[in-house]
Amino acid sequence: MRTNYCGLINEQYLDQTVTVKGWVHRRRDHGGVIFIDLRDREGLVQVVIDPDTPDAFKLADSSRNEFVLCVTGRVRLRPDGTKNDKMISGGIEILAKEIEVLNTAATPPFQIDDENLSENVRLTHRVVDLRRPVMQKNLKLRYKVAMGVRRYLDDLGFIDIETPMLTRSTPEGARDYLVPSRVHNGYCYALPQSPQLFKQLLMVAGFDRYYQITKCFRDEDLRADRQPEFTQIDLETSFLDENEIMDIAEGMTRKIFQDELNVNLGEFPRMLFADAMRLYGSDKPDLRVSLQFTELTDLMKTEEFKVFRAAADLPNGRVIALRVPNGAKLSRKEIDTYTEFVGIYGAKGLAYIKVNDINNITNGENSGLQSPIVKFLSDSCLKEIISRTNAQNGDIIFFGADKAKVVNEAIGALRVKIGHEHGAADGYFVDEWKPLWVTDFPMFEYDEDEKRWSAMHHPFTSPKAGHEDLMASDPEHCLARAYDMVLNGWEVGGGSIRIHRAEVQEKVFAALNISPEEQQNKFGFLLDNLKFGAPPHGGLAFGLDRLVTLMTGAESIRDVIAFPKTQRAQCLLTNAPNSVDDRQLRDLGLRLRQKPTTENQA
Ligand code: AMO
Ligand code: AMP
Repeated sequence: MRTNYCGLINEQYLDQTVTVKGWVHRRRDHGGVIFIDLRDREGLVQVVIDPDTPDAFKLADSSRNEFVLCVTGRVRLRPDGTKNDKMISGGIEILAKEIEVLNTAATPPFQIDDENLSENVRLTHRVVDLRRPVMQKNLKLRYKVAMGVRRYLDDLGFIDIETPMLTRSTPEGARDYLVPSRVHNGYCYALPQSPQLFKQLLMVAGFDRYYQITKCFRDEDLRADRQPEFTQIDLETSFLDENEIMDIAEGMTRKIFQDELNVNLGEFPRMLFADAMRLYGSDKPDLRVSLQFTELTDLMKTEEFKVFRAAADLPNGRVIALRVPNGAKLSRKEIDTYTEFVGIYGAKGLAYIKVNDINNITNGENSGLQSPIVKFLSDSCLKEIISRTNAQNGDIIFFGADKAKVVNEAIGALRVKIGHEHGAADGYFVDEWKPLWVTDFPMFEYDEDEKRWSAMHHPFTSPKAGHEDLMASDPEHCLARAYDMVLNGWEVGGGSIRIHRAEVQEKVFAALNISPEEQQNKFGFLLDNLKFGAPPHGGLAFGLDRLVTLMTGAESIRDVIAFPKTQRAQCLLTNAPNSVDDRQLRDLGLRLRQKPTTENQA
């Protein structure tokens, strides 16, 4: 019988006989004495086997990495100078009396403590990868967060209700994963992009407070913070307004950070969407970086410099400055690298001014401003730029001029990049948790490709009071009762107050150009049920994977998911997706238009 976890044995067990079971993490032969670091989910313990116990010694000698052993022995202090303060068991070792080999192991594909593994190797050998202490720690934290969520919501009277996985398409704006029906050939279920409509229907059904920790499926382009299937902490309430819902969600996040990380997140600031875009060019600003945009669009409408003037004159144009304290020291090469970086976001260049002497602001030869563009700008404009940005000697000012979308994305990303690279040294980056709420999102955004308005959150989001008529007359300026929780530049959650009156819902569909027939066909079950006395309701959903990624400090959400997909939506462990045989396809009434090639096969 196991008496202890390896990683938890400490000085409290001195002189006791213990039995541990685990994997050989490392084996060292020290001329006659063998040391084995035995590992289980709680960590490592050092086992010493000396030749005085010949049976144990023989087994230890033939053991290899990842063999599974049962070790019985006496706990003793490690000799002077070999204490490892980083481990609970770092002060002790087990002097083995008996060893049993519970299983041998093939040579593992990599060393468990190899820090430089490619992700492909790790995902192909995910089972061995999951043995790594950091992965064990991540998944344990994930579990604790989920448990904390359940406790918190349960205390507030939320109940967990499951919603279907095989359902109709739900409109969160991504592409659906479809499941062809065998019983109804030619028809498909869609895997839910979220439980959105079902949770609203549960409110109509009178459950008052619902939550679920559940999988969502979206066939979209993947990134470090996106998976095709991911987990939401999804909740919905009746009769509460946005402030009450935000308070519940904020309280939950605060409690989890306090309990699991011993971090007090404090009160979350609330920022209007419009302010977030104005100051940071992003609806999920990373507030660890304090740099802000300075608006120059108005100023450039009367300047001759074509790059800025043309952008300022565009209907959706924007010209802004980003002042970086102490940035005049940036080299030509660094500025070139930043110019390439903003190019990824579509910026056509990255104009800059190095501020050497604010007492000498001219566009002439001996200007105190060093820049390829000062000669194109008037003295008064230069003075205004320095004054608006509050620039000091030694600063650099970067400029973005283009369609607002390009400027916001390019300079917004630059702001974060420079902040992380230089901000700590130059005083505009703090390594702290920076949560906030972003509120008052627009109802609609214009889809340039499709040339039509689409819902910014989802089409069940309520317009702000007084904005109902704008839906038809001025969709651009119609605001929604929607809110996002942002943490260190990541959108960790988002939600809204919903529309609970069928006639308002129909108006939103009309603004989105969804015909009454299509409304009835796609959302009839919602519209019909809203008519049976739907209560005012609202809620939100957190991305559990993202939240835990931030809490662990991992680079990618794949590091907090046991069996994730690659950027190309494949599971390298099981080789999903895989081709299926003709009979399965026939049952589903399907024929392939193209045989899968090895190229698109997992
Ligand atoms: P939304 O689409 O904003 O809202 O999703 C909620 C949260 O889920 C996380 N998330 C993702 N995480 C990993 N991979 C993805 N592909 C992915 N997509 C989204 C984000 C996001 O904030 N039904 C609404 C919620 C509501 O209105 O109540 C919804 O799904 O952290
Ligand atoms: P050009 O006239 O293209 O040589 O550009 C003059 C300066 O303006 C260069 O430093 C460019 O990097 C910069 N620049 C060009 N286009 C833009 C833009 N859209 N936004 C910001 N800077 C730009």
